[in-house]
Amino acid sequence: MAAERKRSCGLSSLVFLFSVFSLCQSSFSGETSRRNVSVELNPGLPSSPPGGDLLHARAVGDTDTLHFLFCSQGAPTLLLVHTNSSSSAVTVNWTQFEARNISGSLKVEPESSILYSSAIVFSRLLEYDDVNDTADPTSDLFPPYELQDFTWSPLNLSGLSALLCGAAESFANGSLCLELSLFESEGRDQSWPRLLHTANSSQLKVWLDGVLPRATRSRFILELQAVGGVNPLNRVEVHRSIDDEFTPSIFKVSQWVSSGNSSSDVLGYLQWKPVAYRRSDPALEFATPCRHSDPRPQTAALSGLIRGFYAEPQTFGLNVSFGLAGEPFYNSTKFLSWTVLLGSGSPPVDSFSPLVLTVMAVGLGTPMILLLLGGVCVCVRKRAAAYEPIN
Ligand SMILES: *[C@@H]1O[C@H](CO)[C@@H](O)[C@H](O)[C@H]1NC(C)=O
Ligand SMILES: *[C@@H]1O[C@H](CO)[C@@H](O)[C@H](O)[C@H]1NC(C)=O
Ligand SMILES: *[C@@H]1O[C@H](CO)[C@@H](O)[C@H](O)[C@H]1NC(C)=O
Ligand SMILES: *[C@@H]1O[C@H](CO)[C@@H](O)[C@H](O)[C@H]1NC(C)=O
Ligand SMILES: *[C@@H]1O[C@H](CO)[C@@H](O)[C@H](O)[C@H]1NC(C)=O
Ligand SMILES: *[C@@H]1O[C@H](CO)[C@@H](O)[C@H](O)[C@H]1NC(C)=O
Ligand SMILES: *[C@@H]1O[C@H](CO)[C@@H](O)[C@H](O)[C@H]1NC(C)=O
Ligand SMILES: *[C@@H]1O[C@H](CO)[C@@H](O)[C@H](O)[C@H]1NC(C)=O
Ligand SMILES: *[C@@H]1O[C@H](CO)[C@@H](O)[C@H](O)[C@H]1NC(C)=O
Ligand SMILES: *[C@@H]1O[C@H](CO)[C@@H](O)[C@H](O)[C@H]1NC(C)=O
Ligand SMILES: *[C@@H]1O[C@H](CO)[C@@H](O)[C@H](O)[C@H]1NC(C)=O
Repeated sequence: MAAERKRSCGLSSLVFLFSVFSLCQSSFSGETSRRNVSVELNPGLPSSPPGGDLLHARAVGDTDTLHFLFCSQGAPTLLLVHTNSSSSAVTVNWTQFEARNISGSLKVEPESSILYSSAIVFSRLLEYDDVNDTADPTSDLFPPYELQDFTWSPLNLSGLSALLCGAAESFANGSLCLELSLFESEGRDQSWPRLLHTANSSQLKVWLDGVLPRATRSRFILELQAVGGVNPLNRVEVHRSIDDEFTPSIFKVSQWVSSGNSSSDVLGYLQWKPVAYRRSDPALEFATPCRHSDPRPQTAALSGLIRGFYAEPQTFGLNVSFGLAGEPFYNSTKFLSWTVLLGSGSPPVDSFSPLVLTVMAVGLGTPMILLLLGGVCVCVRKRAAAYEPIN
């Protein structure tokens, strides 16, 4: 009888252990949705247009499609269009598109299937001489670099990512590059900040490599514009985030969101962690904090994609400035990279990593099992003791 009880006690503790693990497993992986992603360059054109490439990615889900369009005609722009049809298509009238002045030259059809759209435009790069090391981005600004005037390389496609590099004349051998990544399912990038992405998001990594600074103590600022139709991205929320192995020492996540009529449902977002890296192989000592200004209405930078798609675009702009007082200047490594997600729906929420969860499960689970085991054993002994006199 005692042996039987012991066996069932061991069994139940095993069951308990498994349920703790499976609970943790489901809490961090969850139900993930998948999309089939296909990429085409310059849809409907046999060769590259002179003004810059246009990438079109279709991410098809069960009942909907996300169209990602990335273009370097004018300031680099990523446009996201969410449709409620799995057969919606993009058509481009190239003569009109390249004139960059006719709305409707790029269409997502049928137009009635469009649920939501928004775009991010990289409009300007600002540089200032931080002589007193105060990291005050309004001091001693150099004339800004307009990204629409850069010379952009052809898009370099590989799998589900595309690389675009450009430079101003004074960059010497340096360049500003944008790497777009598209995803079929949930996951994380290999390199920091390892943002959590879903099949509903795309990622842009921006970096400044080898640019000749105009002062020894130069710091940089990137001006971004969010463009939308009826529901533009108009407010930035800063949330607490978990500090774990994915983005060590960063406790916040910033989300520039578009909200519909009820402020609770978010239609689309730009999400980033307030950190940039001063080396291409990031390590903790090369992390540098960044700050953002409040979004405000702006006149749109010249972007072929925006002109071609939107009839009445609404534009909000904000500045992301890299580095705080006391942090090394750009000249120290001549490298700076920053990563952002553009997606539809609600932004992904970070959870604890599997490693942390396992540690927690073992840490909390083991004492519980010991307690249970102890309780059962005491109980068994008492019973055994109670039966003994009869024997
Ligand atoms: C993705 O493609 C696979 C095979 O081509 C197909 O079986 C699956 O149904 C597709 N999924 C979606 C969501 O379109
Ligand atoms: C594209 O636009 C041009 C100029 O507006 C027009 O002449 C041409 O017919 C259009 N092409 C198509 C395929 O619609
Ligand atoms: C667009 O620009 C082209 C030349 O770049 C010009 O011929 C045409 O008239 C312009 N169209 C509009 C509607 O402004
Ligand atoms: C897609 O949305 C449009 C407009 O919101 C609506 O008219 C249409 O019925 C929807 N289609 C489907 C298949 O849900
Ligand atoms: C830097 O500090 C000096 C001396 O305190 C001051 O005169 C100068 O205005 C400061 N420059 C900036 C850009 O703040
Ligand atoms: C394109 O990208 C691949 C991988 O990112 C790289 O190896 C290759 O050199 C690039 N090609 C050009 C022309 O830049
Ligand atoms: C740019 O690169 C060329 C060849 O790689 C080199 O000769 C030149 O010195 C470089 N210029 C600067 C400003 O670094
Ligand atoms: C992605 O978007 C689709 C359609 O809006 C939604 O059903 C799905 O839950 C979203 N997936 C994630 C992981 O957010
Ligand atoms: C960059 O820093 C190096 C060494 O720290 C210095 O020699 C050089 O003059 C600086 N260059 C610029 C453009 O400030
Ligand atoms: C939001 O409200 C406006 C009028 O206030 C209405 O025209 C529009 O359809 C509403 N949008 C949604 C998504 O409910
Ligand atoms: C970004 O900063 C520059 C320089 O301070 C300023 O001229 C510009 O208006 C700012 N842009 C936004 C969107 O706030």
